[in-house]
Amino acid sequence: HIKVATMRKDVRILLVGEPKVGKTSLIMSLVSEEFPDEVPLRAEEITIPADVTPERVPTHIVDYSGTDTCTSLYDETHMACIAVLMSMPQASPKVLIPLLLNVLILLSCHRVPLILVGNKSDLVEHSSMETILPIMNQYSEIETCVECSAKNLKNISELFYYAQKAVLHPTGPLYSPEDKE
Ligand code: GTP
Ligand code: MG
Repeated sequence: HIKVATMRKDVRILLVGEPKVGKTSLIMSLVSEEFPDEVPLRAEEITIPADVTPERVPTHIVDYSGTDTCTSLYDETHMACIAVLMSMPQASPKVLIPLLLNVLILLSCHRVPLILVGNKSDLVEHSSMETILPIMNQYSEIETCVECSAKNLKNISELFYYAQKAVLHPTGPLYSPEDKE
């Protein structure tokens, strides 16, 4: 019989961010549903089987080591979605924008949706969406933004769900009328 799932593409999510923002911890927290005390520099690529994802598509999650050179990002341009991470305590446009611009320049031809992620929200007193939102509003390439914590597992599964959605049901710049002309 025909499996509907085979008609859908896989989702590949790449986590990018400055060193130590928590990329590897986030992946490990998702997988083990608990915060790992120690993590390797880079997590092995993981695949979440279709039947346990909300959108029913196989989802691959790829860690990007902050110690890699920027050029190795080129190798990852077959990604379906890029999650750009920052650490909430240090989050500011000044820290984030150079990284974001690098990612945008590298991916400008590939129309890969971006998600902006503020990790370590457990370390800040109140919501830092006022830091993230203005950055998101400035860059139409950013599909959505989310505040999370690998430590207390806040918004971890949601983050990967938003990433799936950004790939499978893109909105905004990917389908903007200007682009179709
Ligand atoms: P590199 O691979 O070296 O670029 O770092 P990374 O972005 O993979 O960060 P990593 O997961 O290694 O975490 C860096 C440090 O932040 C570790 O000490 C983690 O325990 C800590 N950390 C990660 N996520 C959180 C979080 O949500 N809350 C808090 N409080 N600490 C976190
Ligand atoms: Mg890491």
